[in-house]
Amino acid sequence: MANGTDIKKVSILGKEAIHCGFHLIPYIAQTVFESLPASTYVLVTDSNVAKYHLDKFQAEFNKLIESKTQKRFITHVISPGETSKSREGKAEIEDFMLANACTRDTVVIAVGGGVIGDLVGFVAATFMRGVRFVQVPTTLLAMVDSSVGGKTAIDTPHGKNLIGAFWQPEYIFIDAAFLETLPIREFSNGMAEVVKTAAIWDEIEFAALESGSEDIFKAIQTTSKDNAGRDLATRSAEQQLLLRVIVASISVKAHIVTIDERETGLRNLVNFGHTIGHALEAVLTPQILHGECVSIGMILEAELARQLGILSQVGVGRLTRALKSYNLPVSVHDSRIASLPASKLLTIDRLLDIMKVDKKNSGPAKKIVLLSRIGATHEPKATAVADEKIRKTLAESVIVISGTPSRSPVSMATPGSKSLSNRALVLAALGKGTCRLKNLLHSDDTQVMMSALLDLQGATFSWEDGGETLVVQGGEGSLVPPASNKELYLGNAGTAARFLTTVCALVRSKGSAQHTVITGNARMKQRPVGPLVDALRANGTGVVYREAEGSLPLAITAHETGFAGGHIKLAASVSSQYVSSILLCAPYAAKPVVLELTGGQVISQPYIDMTIAMMKSFGIEATRRKDENGTLLDVYDIPTGTYVNPEKYVIESDASSATYPLAIAAITGTTCTLTNIGSASLQGDAGFAKAVLEPMGCTVVQTESSTTVTGPPVGTLKAIGLVDMEPMTDAFLTASVLAAVACGEVDSARKLEDAPANTTRILGIANQRVKECNRIRAMIDELAKFGVQTKELDDGLEIYGIPHDTLRRSASVHCYDDHRVAMAFSVLGTLIPDTIIEEKRCVEKTWPNWWDDLENKIGLEVEGIELRPQPAASTSASATSHDPEASILLFGMRGSGKTYLGKIAAAELGWDYLDADQYLEGIHKMTCKEFVHQRGWEEFRATETKILSELLELKPKKTVISLGGGIVETESARDAIKAYAKQKGPVIHISRDIGQIVQYLTHETERPAYPQEIEEVFKRRRPWFEECCSHQFVSIVDTDSSSTSADPQIRARREVGTYFRHITGIQPNYAPNLISGRRSYFLSLTIPDLTAQPELLREDQSDILTGIDAVELRVDLLSPTGVATAPNVPPRDYVTQQLAFLKHTTSLPIVYTVRTVSQGGAFPDDAQDQLFELLQLGVQLGAEYIDIEITSPHKKIQSLAAIKGTSRIIASHHDWSGNLKWSGPDIEKHYTTAARLGDIIKIVGKANSIEDNMLLQAFVKQKSLAPDAKPFIAINLGTEGQLSRILNPTFSPVTHSQLPVAAAPGQLTFAQIQTGLHLLGKVPRKKFFLFGTPISKSPSPTLHNTGFSVLGLPHIYSLHETSAVDDSIRRIIRMPDFGGASVTIPHKLAMVEEVDELTPAARLIGALNTIVPIGQVDGSVRIIGDNTDWIGIRNTILSKSSDVWSRNDCGLIIGAGGTARAAVYALHSLGLGTIYLINRTKSTAERLAASFPKEYNVVVLASMADLEKAPPGIIVGTVPSDATTSGELELTDALFSRVDGGVVVEMAYLPKTTSLVQLALGVSTVDSQSRWSIVYGVDVLLEQGYEQFRLWTTHRAPQRAIKEKVVQVYERS
Ligand SMILES: NC(=O)c1ccc[n+]([C@@H]2O[C@H](COP(=O)([O-])OP(=O)(O)OC[C@H]3O[C@@H](n4cnc5c(N)ncnc54)[C@H](O)[C@@H]3O)[C@@H](O)[C@H]2O)c1
Ligand SMILES: [Zn+2]
Repeated sequence: MANGTDIKKVSILGKEAIHCGFHLIPYIAQTVFESLPASTYVLVTDSNVAKYHLDKFQAEFNKLIESKTQKRFITHVISPGETSKSREGKAEIEDFMLANACTRDTVVIAVGGGVIGDLVGFVAATFMRGVRFVQVPTTLLAMVDSSVGGKTAIDTPHGKNLIGAFWQPEYIFIDAAFLETLPIREFSNGMAEVVKTAAIWDEIEFAALESGSEDIFKAIQTTSKDNAGRDLATRSAEQQLLLRVIVASISVKAHIVTIDERETGLRNLVNFGHTIGHALEAVLTPQILHGECVSIGMILEAELARQLGILSQVGVGRLTRALKSYNLPVSVHDSRIASLPASKLLTIDRLLDIMKVDKKNSGPAKKIVLLSRIGATHEPKATAVADEKIRKTLAESVIVISGTPSRSPVSMATPGSKSLSNRALVLAALGKGTCRLKNLLHSDDTQVMMSALLDLQGATFSWEDGGETLVVQGGEGSLVPPASNKELYLGNAGTAARFLTTVCALVRSKGSAQHTVITGNARMKQRPVGPLVDALRANGTGVVYREAEGSLPLAITAHETGFAGGHIKLAASVSSQYVSSILLCAPYAAKPVVLELTGGQVISQPYIDMTIAMMKSFGIEATRRKDENGTLLDVYDIPTGTYVNPEKYVIESDASSATYPLAIAAITGTTCTLTNIGSASLQGDAGFAKAVLEPMGCTVVQTESSTTVTGPPVGTLKAIGLVDMEPMTDAFLTASVLAAVACGEVDSARKLEDAPANTTRILGIANQRVKECNRIRAMIDELAKFGVQTKELDDGLEIYGIPHDTLRRSASVHCYDDHRVAMAFSVLGTLIPDTIIEEKRCVEKTWPNWWDDLENKIGLEVEGIELRPQPAASTSASATSHDPEASILLFGMRGSGKTYLGKIAAAELGWDYLDADQYLEGIHKMTCKEFVHQRGWEEFRATETKILSELLELKPKKTVISLGGGIVETESARDAIKAYAKQKGPVIHISRDIGQIVQYLTHETERPAYPQEIEEVFKRRRPWFEECCSHQFVSIVDTDSSSTSADPQIRARREVGTYFRHITGIQPNYAPNLISGRRSYFLSLTIPDLTAQPELLREDQSDILTGIDAVELRVDLLSPTGVATAPNVPPRDYVTQQLAFLKHTTSLPIVYTVRTVSQGGAFPDDAQDQLFELLQLGVQLGAEYIDIEITSPHKKIQSLAAIKGTSRIIASHHDWSGNLKWSGPDIEKHYTTAARLGDIIKIVGKANSIEDNMLLQAFVKQKSLAPDAKPFIAINLGTEGQLSRILNPTFSPVTHSQLPVAAAPGQLTFAQIQTGLHLLGKVPRKKFFLFGTPISKSPSPTLHNTGFSVLGLPHIYSLHETSAVDDSIRRIIRMPDFGGASVTIPHKLAMVEEVDELTPAARLIGALNTIVPIGQVDGSVRIIGDNTDWIGIRNTILSKSSDVWSRNDCGLIIGAGGTARAAVYALHSLGLGTIYLINRTKSTAERLAASFPKEYNVVVLASMADLEKAPPGIIVGTVPSDATTSGELELTDALFSRVDGGVVVEMAYLPKTTSLVQLALGVSTVDSQSRWSIVYGVDVLLEQGYEQFRLWTTHRAPQRAIKEKVVQVYERS
């Protein structure tokens, strides 16, 4: 059977183990069966490969086994993909083999890609201490790389391939027919390795790859029927080539492996492109494949070698072309990569950081394989390269370090001319015979030109001298349409596009009319080609514009007869390239061409002359007609004929490029000689030295073929008045940068009458407006960044030179993707310090190694820098993140509360507040009403709009700007607002219930309005408000102030402050426990109408929020009727109102969830549009977390992510079926998808047994090991799943007994989970103490023990009374089960000495009242001292009055102990300017005052009487009550002399009515004017205790329950 199979064998490690061919399955079966006798053959493959090929293996083995009953052939199929290459995946195969009683004599056959090879190979290496195995690679990558060399491995969450073994297969069968079923992208992936191997090892193979891509693709894209290719007789030429390149690649690898099996030196060579490639891969995987990353890595590493002067540009160019021809990306700007959100993470630092851990490194230096030419490396191993060199290569932008060229006098040759290279290419390709082109420019233009000519089968190309010479075999003008309608893609290569347009007219079709399509990138599609097309059309060639009229893409019809010829009229005032295009092709027309140029002034005549001169070198003489007087006419005669290729043609250097080194000599006062361009040049730009540099004051010496320029001393270049640059338009950019610093005295002959003496006026360059960019504009804009003034003229510009040391430094030059802009400004950078050239790569067009030559040949240093902003750490997709300090716009209906809320917001943010209407009134000195009255509405709206843009300019930062409600009536204003919301900062629609607005406006204002009118206006404007805003804030005015203990204004401050700090990103309102990785919980609110039970959400009235970190609003369960029946779509307004109510009631972050029916919720599954509208509403309303199901369309998720702002996305997947396996491939898929789409991952399965929770745990653990793992919520539903709910540490959903229903089956309460954790040993019982004396009456034990019990925590709090800080205390705080302690009088100061560390507040206060033990990573515990007294004092003051602290600039503290210190800190934090201190012993008070910073302004008073001068509005008593009653410190009425009252805080809690309180009460009753609010000691104690509780447990204390219990016990005592 296997007869007639032609095999090519390659030996490895001394054995001919690699067998290559086509359709080998029968051969494989037979060879294995006969030469590897075994009782069992196990074939392992993946399901993709099994689908196509497993049957054939089965059939062949069955045939062989038939007779021999002792043998068996078993197969095992696993899921495809990298995730199978894991410990679990390995175990699965091993279990399969063990279950099938495989023994030591088993032969394992791995059929698949690298994943299968690596995994199965590793199984074979360890199964029964190693069994024989056979590799049958089915991907190209596996064939040429992973199967050869014996490396086997699996991945772990710590990284790829970290566990494995060297284990050599018995055979490696390379069956190239497998590639026919391989996806094309995977094929290209493997080609990267093939190109790599040739690049480091074999130039001949590389050349075969360079020219062979089309045939190679053909080989795998045509199905070989009837086993074609199995024997040589049936093998096609394409198959031959394919097998040849594979075998060649394998041979190199086999050779290297044989010499260096264990990878000590030489074998590192195969890592060319991999050092940088792997770093890219680490960021871009799994979207971008290994080979694709290596492809880019190779280019970057080749550029690195070029930078180091090791590799020439030719090598880089060839490598780039070769990789591109296999459809591989060659730069991170490739759209396949740039479009990925992950590409934003490709920062230099990140990449260098990843490279640090490369296996090849030794010590800190990174090792990189450096190419020295195509086919050879610099060293026979990787070379150590310094970070800054790598950094320079990776950088997108550069700084030219200003200074004097160290290589002066410079002597160099500049790159070949692009114009001449392109002309020579066309001429040689159309010519007859072979031509060797030398000094050809390797650029985009020549590259696309060559590949286009190849596609048209117009010529063949090969390289000599390591790429220095291009050998062109001319096709004599016979061209055919590209195969399979391939479009010729020309990028942004203008010359190629113009020349090829006529070349395509030469294409002939055989039978029916065909056409050739030429196209380019977006910029190319804007560049004109119209006049040329017009001329060709008039001549009978069919040309169709595929897109915009006048530009590419073009479809050019291929006629049977080709190009007609005869009289052709061409408008030549835009580009001489049109003329050259026709001239070059004219000899191949059917009739001799008479080319007549029309349209007046012919542009760039020198280029036309150059074309004609070159045509002559190739044997065809075109002549220009003259009139009878001998005056030249714009008419040319071109005879028909065929070009005759000269043997050798040397391309002259590019005269435009030559201007840069010469200009550097001019500007730096040094000397530069160019050896390959001189006075004989036909290029117009060759005149630059004489026409521009000489008059500027340089010395110019020119021979026929060389030019030497010496600049005058730095700073003495002269302006040159008028210069006509029509013959050298491309050089005007170079002239412009010199003119910018040319301020020396102008030669009198050149002085302009009508312009200042420092003027250089450049004319004749109008065509430069339609080059790569509008270059005149570009020069004007970029020079302005240096502070250089210019003036734009019709066909040029004027530049006003200024002394070089007055030019602005650190300018950042934008290059418009234009090589000339980049190189011109780098000339200026040699003189002006810190000039940044933003896009260094744009020089690739004509001088790819410009930056290297600048360094290596001219001697000026170039530094790489990164301008890309660092991405925010936690975003899924590219969220538009505003500058947090960008000003905020507010708008909304009159009466919605814009002014009130805007002012609060500004105060909370510490920003300015500005009312646009008032601003307008201020400017126009009349009220808005008067304005409208006098000038009408139309003008008012126009003025309003103008003012809007003015304000945005004027106040771009830190301002809350309130706009008039009618601003949205004007479209241009709406556009401006929308643009602002999109790019700059938040635009907030302040909305309020319309009924309330009507009520407010009709009753409560001076400007009454009619209800109908208001509602009509609202109806009209509302859609506008909604479409223009980025956010919405619903203003709720408390109607029943009785139900709230706090002042409504305090609540407004809290709510507004939280909201504005969140949406700006200044202080996002995320759950702190979630961020720091501590256990965190959210409560699922399943209530259809939250407003029905307002008290439920109030912490002073209900316990349901205790312990939790966030609340989940189940939007799908909301229903105005009070009952939600699925499917349920809650009305938008209702959702708005409910969420607003929730935000108004609690400042806990909100998880906004719209759960669909199939995911266990009530929202319909088929209403995705409405679903996303609701999700967007959540973002607008400032919900902190948005839950999105990953089953939703990813496009929609991504567009939501793009506008999410500071909201975080929980990407969730729910599977209620009970079929989700926490160990299967599906879970990996869900995890990866969720990780890609969200900031937080949530996967919910259903437990069928308790083991399902173990599998879940194992999965979570494995994922958590990855260094940048995102927070992961993982739980199982059902009672069997409750264990997973207990153990899940991240945002566990919980319920509460007071809620109507649990959100999901098995949901537990917070307390239940804590109890569960305790029973499982996860929350051990801790002991807490109170240190101090006397403390027997302290409410603290009641406070904390109640808290513990409500939250289900097992802890105990008890008293430890000592008169001094003694050993007993020291022992307690070091006990292993010590949970924390409160510290009270008299130990607050002394305890400071006992702790390991103080918090900043405690350190400043110099006293502590709280001790918190904090576990360290190494297992030790640090004892931290904190102070919550000040928080207690501050919070209680705040709760009494919203503005007392702002009305008062002084406060008083009675006492000077530890508590008094906390009080000083608290009053300062409230912004009090002066803090008085009064104490029995004045010196103690003075000591205290001295220990605080000066700005605290603590003033010690001698007596109460001093208070009368500046009566305090806040008084804090910190002395135990017995101290005042015993008369040690006499308190008097003088304390309360402030007439408008204030707040008095008594820290002592026993007795309830201390003497201080008594005094305050007395004052308040006597004089009703003076109202003093009293804070009792127990209230401060509670407040500071809640904070203590949170510090110890990380959970918020159950305030209502604690207060109830404490008050109860306290009143009893
Ligand atoms: N051991 C080594 O020296 C070495 C070297 C390089 C890479 N690797 C490893 O190789 C792995 C990558 O290998 P890969 O690129 O072959 O990936 P792969 O094995 O995942 O295969 C790529 C995809 O192609 C499918 N496929 C394979 N052959 C097919 C065929 N003939 N027809 C249709 N589909 C087919 C696969 O199912 C898979 O979906 C990585 O794990 C990498 O670490 C190992
Ligand atoms: Zn590789």
